[in-house]
Formats: sequence, C-alpha cells, structure tokens
Amino acid sequence: MAEIVGGIGTSHVPAVGVAFDKGLTDDPYWAPYVAKLGPAREWIAELEPDACIVVYNDHACAFSLELIPTFALGMAEEFPIADEGFGPRPVPPVPGHPELAWHLAESLVLDEFDMTLVNEMSVDHGLTVPLSVAFGQVDEWPCPVVPLAVNVVQYPPPTGNRCYRLGQAIRRAVESFPGDERIVIFGTGGLSHQLQAERAGLINVDWDLAFLDGLVSEPERVAAIPHVEYLREAGSEGIELVMWLVMRGALGPEVRERYRATHLPTSNTHNGLLVLEPTRA
Ligand code: DHB
Ligand code: FE
Repeated sequence: MAEIVGGIGTSHVPAVGVAFDKGLTDDPYWAPYVAKLGPAREWIAELEPDACIVVYNDHACAFSLELIPTFALGMAEEFPIADEGFGPRPVPPVPGHPELAWHLAESLVLDEFDMTLVNEMSVDHGLTVPLSVAFGQVDEWPCPVVPLAVNVVQYPPPTGNRCYRLGQAIRRAVESFPGDERIVIFGTGGLSHQLQAERAGLINVDWDLAFLDGLVSEPERVAAIPHVEYLREAGSEGIELVMWLVMRGALGPEVRERYRATHLPTSNTHNGLLVLEPTRA
C-alpha cells in the first residue's frame, strides 16, 4: 500500500524563485526568509519521498481563459518550465509519474471527482517555487511529481470544502495504489495577498495565523469558510489558500505539526510554510 507520509503548505511567490535563481538569498531582503526554510528542507530530505503530489494553480501559462479546468491532473512523463515573460526559470524540467497519475485519475473519477486529464502542459511559479522552497537548487528534482492544478484564478473557484473532500479522496486513491511509495503532498499559494485594484498590497496577519491554526486542528471548520471571507479578509489572491485544504484533507483527521514559519514581506505576500505529518491510530 502506498501512503501519504507528509504534507507541506507553502506560498509560491514568484520573486522567491527569482531570488533563488539569481543567487540573491544572502541579500538582506531575502536572507531572513531563506533562514526560515531550513527545518522544512531537512524534514523532506530525511523523509526522502518516492513521489510528490503538488497542488498548485496555473497563472494563465498552461491554461488561459479559453480553457478553465477546475481540477486538472498532469499525466505526462515530464513537464517543461513555463516562460512567464522573462524566459523559463533555470530549474530542471519536472519529472512526472504517469502510473501514479493514471491511478489517481481512475480512483478520483470513480470516487466522483471529475478531474481534467492533461497530457501536455508547462508548469509555472505556482509549482516550481514550492519545489525550490523544499529542495533548494538542484540539477535534478529528487523525485517524480504529479501536478494537480486548481482553478483559483477565474471565478468561480471550488469551495474550500470541495478541496478538503478532494484531499480525502486523494488519500483513498494513494492507499489503493499498488506498491509501497511514500508520498508527500504540497498545498501551495497564499497567505493573504491582493495584487490588483483598490486594495492591492492587502495583508492580514491575524487572519492568516488563525487560518493556519484551524487548518491544523479544526479542518472541517476551516473547510467551511466561504469565498467571500477569503476575499474580504485575505484579499483577492488569498483564495489560493483553498489549495492547502486539499493537502490537509489528504493527511487524515489528525495531524502532527512538525514546523511552521511565516514571513513578511515577500513581494506583496504574507509568506507561509507549514509541515504536517499524519498521526496514525
Ligand atoms: C505574486 C504572485 C503569486 O502568484 C502569488 O501567489 C503571490 C505573489 C506576485 O506577483 O508577487
Ligand atoms: Fe499565486
């Protein structure tokens, strides 16, 4: 039986990718943030997962307003790095895991989660920055990845509750995958940020910290937070946090919090990092 052995929540701020790629991590702006990554990196290096499922959102790179899948699974052998306007990030292409992806697709669809299956797509900062946060600068990513893209860009995004239930279904899917893979699931995006319009620059530290507390110990309550609360309290891009609920749902009812860090500022975003492990009865 394959199993989910851990979950990591992290922001996916594009400027963090630039800081890694341009060697700016000792810069006084970035050094205090980078210093907080150590325990999460040590945790995942020690765990040596066989594969990762990365729940992220595409920012109009692989998809556009022509095609807006609510939940999309990446099925390919490899995912090229998207060009977001300044050339692709100089990080390795992301290796896929078609066998796991096809198993997830079958299990999730039969479990009544109607996934869009994507055989070819590039991956943007939503996926690559979390990999850099977790694994640092590498010549090759240490394990294959199944990308799971969630629409949080074009209204209506899925509810937090739907995302939490999808995570629970992912857990069932992984546990029925033949083999003994140990899998880490990433939830990415957030914390509070708004990149546009009158409230651009909005940050709400108190709301973010309460969200993280609730995600750990009261996930059902947090799953019920309506879209309008994310918008009002965490800004228009704060809705990315529903993707952390997919990760949380995949860990089972009770978790152990192994590490948490938050940091301000990173670009216009309150940055979060949370490492969780399932507790087994
Ligand atoms: C920014 C973009 C993002 O997609 C995000 O999640 C946070 C910040 C930015 O452009 O700064
Ligand atoms: Fe984003």
